[in-house]
Amino acid sequence: MPLTLLSLTRNIALAPLWIAQIGTKAKSFRDNPVLGSPLLNAWGLHVARRRLADVMSRRRRLRLAPSVTPQERTRFCELGYFLRHDAVASAQFAALCREIRESRLPAREMRQGGTVTRRIGLDAAWLAGMPATARFVKDPAVRALIHYAASCTGEPTFAVQTILADPSDGGADPQTVLHSDTFHPTAKAWLFLNDVGEEDGAFAYVPGSHRVTPQRLAWEHEQSLSAARSSDRMHGEGSFRATASDLAALGLPPPVKMAVPANTLIVADTSGFHRRSPSLRLTRRVELYATLRRSPFLPFTGGHLAAMPPSAGRFAQLEAGLQEGLERLGLAHSPWRPVGSAGAYEPAKI
Ligand SMILES: [Fe+2]
Repeated sequence: MPLTLLSLTRNIALAPLWIAQIGTKAKSFRDNPVLGSPLLNAWGLHVARRRLADVMSRRRRLRLAPSVTPQERTRFCELGYFLRHDAVASAQFAALCREIRESRLPAREMRQGGTVTRRIGLDAAWLAGMPATARFVKDPAVRALIHYAASCTGEPTFAVQTILADPSDGGADPQTVLHSDTFHPTAKAWLFLNDVGEEDGAFAYVPGSHRVTPQRLAWEHEQSLSAARSSDRMHGEGSFRATASDLAALGLPPPVKMAVPANTLIVADTSGFHRRSPSLRLTRRVELYATLRRSPFLPFTGGHLAAMPPSAGRFAQLEAGLQEGLERLGLAHSPWRPVGSAGAYEPAKI
């Protein structure tokens, strides 16, 4: 079959899926010709999704508000993140650090330029032998912050994450470019096990950049017209990159670098602009990491499949199995590589 006929047949077969994805969290302008259509976006498709997601997330957050103190809500509304020093009682924090230092568990690693990220998914089976860590993972007060930032309840995915950065390796790390993860509220959280200095690739966030203002909508509209053809792959996949001049045009301040002591918890809505600051020295940072991203258009906050059997407590193993299966069938390629059992403080394996 000639190539053009083949691609036409494929496009016709996939069109219903691409259209259906308008109502989901799908965000790639490159991979979905409907979401990426310059014509549909000129007519306002992307901005309509952005607006509706904003309306729905506000409604859901109203329902979640009683679980967060008014002071923390006000700060979150202003900044786009929660920050708690001494987040865990000192005896529990010491026990949690010891458990993580002494564990060797199935890990995955991803290399981005000179930085390797290692994740050890904390399924229930591993947490059974880590009581202090399990207490943090199950802590309703921690979950309330993650839920509020994500604007949904549900089961966050927890992992022990190690960042190993070598600035002498000249490769570009896309995480050091200021970006928004997606077009709707989504939560990421870090409990830092070590002090994070200015030079240690600290998390940086543009205060207030989670808010959907008329200027932001106009900027997003502009990006949506050309994102599908962007030379920056991640911009084309819907994680819009922003420059310093974009921030100035949007009336936003520069990013704030969060050099913080150990036992600080940050929970951010990463639809706001953020990045990992470039490491200026050899860095090994260990943190408890969590993420929660759900459908942007839900009228309710609950009903999360990952929080129910058979997924509950087994997400890391299921995700790794799914990735392996899809890669074997040639249907997906993930930058994450399984590296067998590893400890959080070991050198990179990839
Ligand atoms: Fe990000």
